[in-house]
Amino acid sequence: MKRLVLILLCFIGYTHATTISVTSPDKRIVFSLTDENTLAQYTIDYKKERLVRHSKLGFTFEKAYPWYRDFEVTEVSRTSVDQTWEQPWGAKRFVRDHHNELVVRFTNTQQKDVQFDVRVRVFNDGVGFRYEYDGSENMNITRELTEFWFADSHKADAYWIPGQMRERYEYLYRSTPMQQVEGVVHTPFTVVYDNGTHVAVHEAALLDFAGMSLEKAQQGRFFANLAPRSDGLAVVKQGAWTSPWRTYTIGDSAPDLANSYLTLNLNEPNALGDDLSWIEPGKYIGIWWCMHIDVCTWGSGDKHGATTERSLQYMDFAAKYGFDGVLIEGWNEGWDGNWIANSELFDFTKPYPDFDINKVAQYALDRGVRLIGHHETSGGITNYEIQWDKAFPYYEALGVRQIKTGYVAHGQNLKRKDESGIMRYEFTDSQHVINHMTRNIQKAAKHKISINKHESVKQTGLHRTYPNWIATESARGQEYNAGWSTPNPPEHEAMLIFTRMLAGPMDYTPGIFDFDFVRTGGGTEEDGLHNYRRPHSTLAKQLAQYVVFYSPIQMAADIPENYLEKPEAFQFILDVPTDWEDSIVLQGDVADFAVTARKEKQHRHYSGKDWYLGGVTDENARTVSVPLEFLDRGQRYEAHIYRDAKDTDWRENPYGLIVEKKTVSAKDTLTIRMAESGGFAVRFKAL
Ligand code: NOJ
Ligand code: CA
Repeated sequence: MKRLVLILLCFIGYTHATTISVTSPDKRIVFSLTDENTLAQYTIDYKKERLVRHSKLGFTFEKAYPWYRDFEVTEVSRTSVDQTWEQPWGAKRFVRDHHNELVVRFTNTQQKDVQFDVRVRVFNDGVGFRYEYDGSENMNITRELTEFWFADSHKADAYWIPGQMRERYEYLYRSTPMQQVEGVVHTPFTVVYDNGTHVAVHEAALLDFAGMSLEKAQQGRFFANLAPRSDGLAVVKQGAWTSPWRTYTIGDSAPDLANSYLTLNLNEPNALGDDLSWIEPGKYIGIWWCMHIDVCTWGSGDKHGATTERSLQYMDFAAKYGFDGVLIEGWNEGWDGNWIANSELFDFTKPYPDFDINKVAQYALDRGVRLIGHHETSGGITNYEIQWDKAFPYYEALGVRQIKTGYVAHGQNLKRKDESGIMRYEFTDSQHVINHMTRNIQKAAKHKISINKHESVKQTGLHRTYPNWIATESARGQEYNAGWSTPNPPEHEAMLIFTRMLAGPMDYTPGIFDFDFVRTGGGTEEDGLHNYRRPHSTLAKQLAQYVVFYSPIQMAADIPENYLEKPEAFQFILDVPTDWEDSIVLQGDVADFAVTARKEKQHRHYSGKDWYLGGVTDENARTVSVPLEFLDRGQRYEAHIYRDAKDTDWRENPYGLIVEKKTVSAKDTLTIRMAESGGFAVRFKAL
């Protein structure tokens, strides 16, 4: 009926606009699509106020007819979903997917066969929309025209890093008024309005496409910027395709953003079959930090880290303290000289002669530990891919279940040899590299191997579809505190939680216990930090990271000796699990602080009854009051509290730690003071 009316209006030459809306189940979010002025556009209202102004939709193509002007709405369909699904591992075991869906077809008024659909899903915690093309034409995308036009941009602050740059995602986040955002920025892009509305723009299910950054057009107005391929195109498609979801997570507080499962909900279910028992969350140590603090080296020679002897010692330590795995880097040929330039030299099946990999791997298995593999590519994606058919079976036969990969290279210089053998230089976010990352995950799955990607593309929730994508770095991790760079500032943890980590689990590598390895360089005279090229953190804050940062794999990143020197603090790392029945970010403000509670999942030596709590603060000391109402009713707990002492100071006395025990229940409130750049960690042991 509606369609008939539209056709009639066109016939009599009347310029008529159709606007169609879909609301969130709780009706607070309204997403509208319109063809006003013959342009496909959308708006978003939140709590009856405009949040996103008329923002254009569309694409341009190398040859095909552009999806831009002369479009009208010709078909509409709707559906609603309310279902709960179970994660094989995660911050929360059961995730509710409750949304209203709208699909609108836009048809070109001049060329009736030029059509595309926009599929929208509106949840109580935000919106996702994507483009769908069901035709058969070959479409080479040159530009995505999607706009993100924030209303009242003068009333908001933004938290962001530059996009498509040399260091990929490894930049310090900036807090600026939204109007001072410059250039191209990565997602998640977090925005906080004066009235308390919190928004994060990101994307979900980035498959066979280019990663999207936001490029500023004018105040508050951004458009999608797709990382270009080396041939200058954005995305090459043959026949039908869908874009990744463009998403807005929306809430009233920073915890609302972090408690959202929108990105996962917009991804397809598990594609790896029913038996996922080979995907193993857990804790690990590694021959790793010693390279970063220059006590040992990746390359061969006197200081070589990955020797058989050291590896066996690490295996003993892991077995004694119940760690699941030991990461060993610098084990294979290719590291000598300037390894960052060695992308074409890495050999993924040739151990250095002083590393007896068979002995080490077997020694580990005999003690209930696993060797964790390492594939550093220095950005040579073809050199890596051509070795997969040997490299994955090689590790698989050694009992390896997890590999950390690395792509240390200039973010626009990933090296791909094309079909003619010519070297092409690709962006980390470009279509070829996205496809490489996906193929890597799929290939690893065939060998029952999980992947932890460093210098990777951002996460977009694909770990729902491929649960062997067990973690990703894709931000500045602990490694920056090792002395070779300016350390992460005190606000870094509370920043990551509400920006980068909205995308998915991060392999941050917490747990540095000795801060005195180097005490010079770094920082500036003005910021007074030039003598502190080491973690800008208290010891309690290092423990807190195991709770406030979510990842199914967590490293105890320091060298074993340093844990043995602080056994009281080490106990928390030994106790804390990495897989959760439930998680609740309770309090927090972007870049200021965060307090999170998590309930352990029943698994092997975890009863499933204990809760954990963690808090971190920025450069300001802060006292938080936490009602323990999240604890199970009627249950009493022994709280093991690890917190900053009165005189703890990250510059002069970072190790000041109070460990105390108290009996508590859900009726109690814990009040804890965090020192400057401090934190706390609590285990609630069910009695
Ligand atoms: C950078 C990674 O983030 C780090 O963890 C690793 O040790 C080095 N690359 C070497 O692969
Ligand atoms: Ca890195």
